[in-house]
Amino acid sequence: MPLQPTKNIWHNGNLIPWENATIHVMSHVVHYGSSIFEGIRCYAQPEGAAIFRLEEHMQRFIDSGVIYRMPLGLSLQQLNQAVIDLVDANGVAPCYIRPVAFRGYGEVGVNPINSPVEVYVINYPWGKYVPGNTGANVCISSWNRNAPNTMPAMAKAGGNYLNSQLIRMEAHINGYDEGIALDVNGTISEGSGENLFIVKGGILYTTPLTSSVLNGITRNSVLTLARDLGIPVVEQALPRELLYVCDEAFFTGTAVEVTHIHSVDRIVIGDGNAGPVTTALHDEFFGIVNGTRKDRYNWLTPVNVKVAEPVGV
Ligand SMILES: Cc1ncc(COP(=O)(O)O)c(C=O)c1O
Repeated sequence: MPLQPTKNIWHNGNLIPWENATIHVMSHVVHYGSSIFEGIRCYAQPEGAAIFRLEEHMQRFIDSGVIYRMPLGLSLQQLNQAVIDLVDANGVAPCYIRPVAFRGYGEVGVNPINSPVEVYVINYPWGKYVPGNTGANVCISSWNRNAPNTMPAMAKAGGNYLNSQLIRMEAHINGYDEGIALDVNGTISEGSGENLFIVKGGILYTTPLTSSVLNGITRNSVLTLARDLGIPVVEQALPRELLYVCDEAFFTGTAVEVTHIHSVDRIVIGDGNAGPVTTALHDEFFGIVNGTRKDRYNWLTPVNVKVAEPVGV
């Protein structure tokens, strides 16, 4: 999807013009992948626009920095405010928000410690990732997720997405919408950029953090909604073949939101349509983010931007 530039980008405390947000080719990140980032949605609502789970995203951003010894030099409150200021200044909603921090231009060499940390926040208009309501046709990737204690899955680091790129390219080349990776043990991990849920016999299953998955904020939201709706939830290592015989399966993530899976390796799941558990969670999620159901968990941060129409369903 082509990027539609906005007017301003937030950089180390200031708003700068979009075209001035450039870096030197000798920046550490270009050579060694030393970046961390977030992806956040700002939704259109009947009363205006609102950012979904801003604080949780910025806390994960800080945590990714801790794991990579990359101090951001900004408090959670300052980071939240940076996002709000940028969205207000650019006046674009609904939009996608991309905070990113990386090791910049300083020393050459693998050790990043003496290369400066640069923090940027960018936002721009953005629509659906897996288009349509027909569900995703996915494959099991021939690529595994990173093994534990190699590239930490809990850090949302740029380098992790080299693995995601391999999974996604392979899926697309073979005619699928997305690939699901197994972990180093051969049990299910997650999609290239989304967490995975499976429904079998009325129980909602998802893989645990020990299965090399990102600690997804949409995953956490869906787990919260499921518990509230009285749906039994199990987090455990899951065998690949459960995907072929389950009643329902769906992805969660900031990009895909809640998207049902139509088929895995060309085996159609259930009758191919979104099943009752997926539908209940999907409707609850979109009801909250689109402002038609009460924000009973305080997940939304209002911003001062006028919007045309609600997004989603
Ligand atoms: C690898 C991976 N897993 C899961 C997710 C879903 O996480 P979230 O719901 O926080 O967007 C993402 C998206 O950020 C991702 O890149």
